[in-house]
Amino acid sequence: MSIYKDKTTLLTGSTRGVGRQIADHILASGGNVIGFARGTSTFEHEQYRQFNVDLSDATAVTAIFNEVRRHTNQIDIVINNAGVLTSQYAMIMPPAAAQSMVNVNLLAPFLISREAAKFMRKSKWGRIINIGSMAASLEPIGDSVYAATKAGLSTLANVMAKEFGSFGVTCNTLGISAIDSDMLAQLPRDKIEEIIKHLPVARFAEIDDILNIIDFFASERSSYVTAQTVFLGGVN
Ligand SMILES: NC(=O)c1ccc[n+]([C@@H]2O[C@H](COP(=O)([O-])OP(=O)(O)OC[C@H]3O[C@@H](n4cnc5c(N)ncnc54)[C@H](OP(=O)(O)O)[C@@H]3O)[C@@H](O)[C@H]2O)c1
Repeated sequence: MSIYKDKTTLLTGSTRGVGRQIADHILASGGNVIGFARGTSTFEHEQYRQFNVDLSDATAVTAIFNEVRRHTNQIDIVINNAGVLTSQYAMIMPPAAAQSMVNVNLLAPFLISREAAKFMRKSKWGRIINIGSMAASLEPIGDSVYAATKAGLSTLANVMAKEFGSFGVTCNTLGISAIDSDMLAQLPRDKIEEIIKHLPVARFAEIDDILNIIDFFASERSSYVTAQTVFLGGVN
């Protein structure tokens, strides 16, 4: 029995990078996917429906759920994947870039998780999975705000795990290491390679490393796994 069959997954940042590959995986497993992203859809699938929303706009994030409710009364799994990164020394970080990271990486997952939890409370089952980063643990120079938002995702999940546990909802975080994407391409390759070199498993992440943990958190069998952060590659 597929983990995702007959389930609806709300996935943010479904158009590109890691999110797109998560969408492909869930759709190939027979699941329904609701994508939250800006702009028009980059692909079509009969079980994929995209809602266009700018996650940096808190009012728009809450408002989009009125449209989602007209489309479905079922959200079983949330994957808060969308993220933005501006890497810059704190002294010269543009405030607008810092604000954008807080809005997209932390406030949007908070708003989406609590709106989705209202669906899950009715069905007495749910899985909330946040895509964090090794930066939350490694705290690299230049990533003060980014790392703080990713650390904040674990805190969000841990508190929500307590608030939503009584109606069968688990909340966990996957701290991913470096994987090739538009986001990674923004960073100097030598800086990333230096970090990767010192991980217990000294290689870049592959999509299957990520899907493995998402499947684990999403599984029926993981009802007793909540308020956990799993880092890839041996980061702790
Ligand atoms: N790649 C890595 O090495 C790495 C490492 C650690 C953690 N992560 C985390 O993994 C997740 C996925 O990263 P990625 O590498 O796949 O990034 P990416 O290639 O830059 O893709 C980011 C996704 O987020 C969406 N997004 C960004 N800002 C948005 C906004 N304001 N409103 C709506 N959607 C927005 C993008 O959609 P648009 O098309 O609308 O821009 C895109 O689908 C992120 O949370 C990131 O922090 C990545």
